[in-house]
Amino acid sequence: MTESIKVPKGLERVIVDQTSISSTDSKGHLIYRGYSATDLAAHASFEQTAYLLINGKLPSSAQLTEFSKRLKEMSNLTTQQEALAEFIGTTYPDNPIIDNLRTVISGIKLESKDESSQLLEMAAKIPGIISKLYYGSAQSPAKGGAQSGYAATFYRMITGKSDISLSKHFEKLLILYMEHEFNASTFALRVTASTLAGPKPSFTSALATLKGPLHGGANSEILNYLLSVKSRDEAIKYVDSKLAKKEKIMGFGHRVYKDKDPRAEFVKGQIREVAKRNGMEKLLEFAEAIEERMWESKRIPANVDFYAAIYLYMLGIKEPFYLPIFAAARSFGWNAHYKEQVADNKLIRPDSEYIGPKNLKFGHDKA
Ligand code: SDX
Repeated sequence: MTESIKVPKGLERVIVDQTSISSTDSKGHLIYRGYSATDLAAHASFEQTAYLLINGKLPSSAQLTEFSKRLKEMSNLTTQQEALAEFIGTTYPDNPIIDNLRTVISGIKLESKDESSQLLEMAAKIPGIISKLYYGSAQSPAKGGAQSGYAATFYRMITGKSDISLSKHFEKLLILYMEHEFNASTFALRVTASTLAGPKPSFTSALATLKGPLHGGANSEILNYLLSVKSRDEAIKYVDSKLAKKEKIMGFGHRVYKDKDPRAEFVKGQIREVAKRNGMEKLLEFAEAIEERMWESKRIPANVDFYAAIYLYMLGIKEPFYLPIFAAARSFGWNAHYKEQVADNKLIRPDSEYIGPKNLKFGHDKA
């Protein structure tokens, strides 16, 4: 029996396993299977990147055609799946979509039999479930035409709009949200997968974990405060007052990125183009004022969620969809991690150091 090893709280900077799916470093580099994630966001399609993450290499054109066709076919909800999503969405209309999405995923009957297909089926179906949960019994916007891919179809299902340029922007953000090493929700998925509980319970654990504001659930608050400031001065005052009260500002800080989050940098560049198109330069100016003040005051960089919230707002997407969009994209990274975990599995079960009372005798204590 090997000796226990004590590690920092929160497993900070602790390498718990090896992975060949993605890698980040404190200097602000993020790679997916060896390729720069921001290069993929700039030049690849969602389907190419999903195939790369799941299979470990970029698809040939024949493989891409086959994968895209399979993804599109799998994205259609069965009658039972649609009925469950409609029931949950209309029974619990006040629940955040992420909560209802978790319930539907843990409850639906999957069409696929083998685990690999079940993983892909869940990822493929999340946009349809999200749309159904939001629009309820009302007919959700017609799906994108036969020719449109995952991102354009998803964009249309949540906005009702077919806009090639805005869908392309949406696709870039989805690619950046797809994967991020052993972040909390991916690690929760791997812990569940390591017990051999199977794909649905593993996705349910990941969806439950993603919700936390320290992980995925920050972008709603980010948008609220960003839309509340009306000048650069107000933006700076907002930062100073939060820091003075020792409160955290959502959208800033990261366990790994200490200089910059490459995704935030990339998205900020993309936002400039969209901001000009729809006259929202001021919103970007105030956001940059907040970012500068945070860096000046605490040397804490913006993380992906800070600029993603602005990007989604500028793409005309409503705030209740923000976290579910993160989940939809990350479900492809979860696909890859589930497979990697079970392919070379060891139950994830750490030790703990007991610091509670000892040698108490039941029945002998004074009441
Ligand atoms: C994502 O892990 C991933 O990969 C996540 C993610 C992914 O793709 O899956 O990249 C997604 O990055 C979104 C993160 C969204 N959450 C937020 O934006 C919430 C605000 N951020 C923080 O709560 C925090 O920065 C964390 C949780 C993201 C990281 O926290 P750590 O590594 O545990 O660091 P910490 O909380 O111990 O903070 C260290 C110091 C503290 O100051 P001191 O007590 O040492 O003086 O930095 C300060 C913190 O107070 N700090 C902040 C801050 N974040 C850290 N101060 C003000 N505002 C903040 N946002």
